[in-house]
Amino acid sequence: MVKIGLLGCGTIGSGVVELLGKEWCQKQQLSIEKILVRNLNKHNSTSYGYKLTNNFEDILKSDIDIVVEVMGGTDPAYFYVKQSLLQGRHVVTANKDLIARHGMELQKIAHQNGVRLLFEASVGGGIPIIKPLSESLAANNITEIRGIVNGTTNFILSRMGNSGRSYETALKEAQQLGYAEASPEADVQGYDAARKLAILSSIAFQESVNYEDIYIEGITNITNDDISLAKYLGYSIKLLALSRRNRHGIMARVSPVMLKNAVPLAQVADVYNAIIVKGDAVGDVLFFGQGAGKLPTASAVVGDIFDIVRHNIGSCSPENSALQDMPLAKVDMADSKSDFFIRLKPTHRFDAMNEVAGQFQRFEFVFPDMVKLGKAIDQNQIIFIAYGVLEKDIQQRIALLKSSGKIESILSIIRMEEEL
Ligand code: HSE
Repeated sequence: MVKIGLLGCGTIGSGVVELLGKEWCQKQQLSIEKILVRNLNKHNSTSYGYKLTNNFEDILKSDIDIVVEVMGGTDPAYFYVKQSLLQGRHVVTANKDLIARHGMELQKIAHQNGVRLLFEASVGGGIPIIKPLSESLAANNITEIRGIVNGTTNFILSRMGNSGRSYETALKEAQQLGYAEASPEADVQGYDAARKLAILSSIAFQESVNYEDIYIEGITNITNDDISLAKYLGYSIKLLALSRRNRHGIMARVSPVMLKNAVPLAQVADVYNAIIVKGDAVGDVLFFGQGAGKLPTASAVVGDIFDIVRHNIGSCSPENSALQDMPLAKVDMADSKSDFFIRLKPTHRFDAMNEVAGQFQRFEFVFPDMVKLGKAIDQNQIIFIAYGVLEKDIQQRIALLKSSGKIESILSIIRMEEEL
């Protein structure tokens, strides 16, 4: 019998308990020995008959083979996971904060102690992506990762687009459905997506990408007008996580982008995630599925448990680890180019248009037909698309526009991207 100690019994933890309780799962001779929870009273009635404890020492004292960490956050998860590995227990975790911050160190400890650390559920919820990236695509030089890796923001943007819901109402709905992180900032400000991008990029490029080096912009400034105008132009707005490797280093960013409706990622709606990996041998590979939620995430966690149970022998060498010892990546996007959709409120309309023409070499004004747009928007705004602007230049040009005195405020700046 393989004994499991579960750290946390919230949304994901109860999903893991549910899946491991299924008949076919039980045939694998797995048993949940103990569950660590913060508040015993809160969980006594929902413990499914398993032994609960609020003392981590109880987990290690029990004869546990695999510790499953589904608490989230890094404190105390980092300490618990480290102790478990040091004491020779395999660890399965769904925790992207933990892996993005301490993944390489923990994987080293796992190796030194002859055990495994698996974290499939940390990116993409139920989508298998860590293992395909580190094993199935190992023959490739991977040059690009692009994906929608946060279910909450994709759900919010889809709801705002489909039903005209406000940002606040859509966020509340996502929270009620159990998609959002404990603090919505992690989702809506793009931090969650950046942590996932750091994990994927490190594995793909074999250089350690620090998530704090990733350029991050969330969705809190996206308005219903932006979404309607995007639709009018044939685009959808998505929170895109993008990293590319070139000769100089790695470009990595998380930001809202307008994607042409015809490209696959633009079609990814609600809580679904999708990730496109570009390899030199395989070309583009698309991974798609539910990126958050109880059972999809638990599916990935239980998959890792099965992996350990079935393939443990000889699998603990660093060569078999997704996050091998690797050098720190140089992450910089200053020299990459994007097209930008920009809306601004002028003080003097024609002078402001002249300023735009002075600042941007290639640009196009947009004059939306209100009937086709299907809603009334403030007529006193200038909308334009600036083409092929270097990231290191865009803020400077916007600052010059602002300082011209012809512009009252900048309403939106959104990158536009066509998938290659
Ligand atoms: N809050 C995360 C999301 C959960 O919405 O994608 C899954 O990582």
